[in-house]
Amino acid sequence: MTDDTPPSAEWRNFYGRIHGKTLRPAQKVYLSEDLASLRPAGVTREDNPARDPIDPAGIFGDDRPIWLEIGFGGGEHLVHMAARYPEIGIVGCEPFVNGVAMLLGKIRQAGVTNLAVHPGDARDLMEVLPDASVAKAFLNYPDPWPKRRHHRRRFVTQDHLRSLARVMQPGAEFRVATDIPDYVRQTLKEVPQAGFDLVGEGGVAWGDWLSTRYEQKALREGRVPHYVTFRRR
Ligand SMILES: C[S@@+](CC[C@H](N)C(=O)[O-])C[C@H]1O[C@@H](n2cnc3c(N)ncnc32)[C@H](O)[C@@H]1O
Repeated sequence: MTDDTPPSAEWRNFYGRIHGKTLRPAQKVYLSEDLASLRPAGVTREDNPARDPIDPAGIFGDDRPIWLEIGFGGGEHLVHMAARYPEIGIVGCEPFVNGVAMLLGKIRQAGVTNLAVHPGDARDLMEVLPDASVAKAFLNYPDPWPKRRHHRRRFVTQDHLRSLARVMQPGAEFRVATDIPDYVRQTLKEVPQAGFDLVGEGGVAWGDWLSTRYEQKALREGRVPHYVTFRRR
């Protein structure tokens, strides 16, 4: 997106590229064979133009707790969490098709059956989830948008955070990992305003954390991870 992009285009486009490197043949197979059965129904505008709330029990076929990962990248944290917590259903959102294809390969390899995938904008999913339907949410290394004039595109702004707060259960945990000091600043300011209490923050990761691809790159480049935990009021 350029600086001249009109504001009306931001809803659809704030996450930048959707396609990257050419998909490997195996990845094309994962997308055509596996994605349809993993994606929750009623999330896209085409599927649900009236934006009626979906039934969360329909996602995994039972009333297990549902967790949400926003922008899973290559899916390593998502698959790790699914394997570690088989009794939970985790829904991952990622508009970048190469990331979705990587995740599908990892799902095949790990054999986990408690994941669902929305291959698109997390906001579309949050919009159709009922109130208080999510028991935990992860925002790992959200796009930093380093330029000041782009800060309003960051996920940690009131529009996105209020949608997230609405779908989270009282007491539910919300985790944010970032390597950008100004993103930490904005997170600590904005997230509490949207209805969350700060539980903890610092340089020590959660006990069940799995370092993501983006984090590995950040570490190689000398940036310092920061982990922040909130609880929905
Ligand atoms: C910096 S990457 C981090 C990826 C991964 N979480 C990791 O730690 O390696 C940020 C990711 O967020 C995704 N993203 C950006 N906006 C999004 C949105 N509105 N909904 C879902 N994912 C989004 C991007 O496509 C990208 O893959």
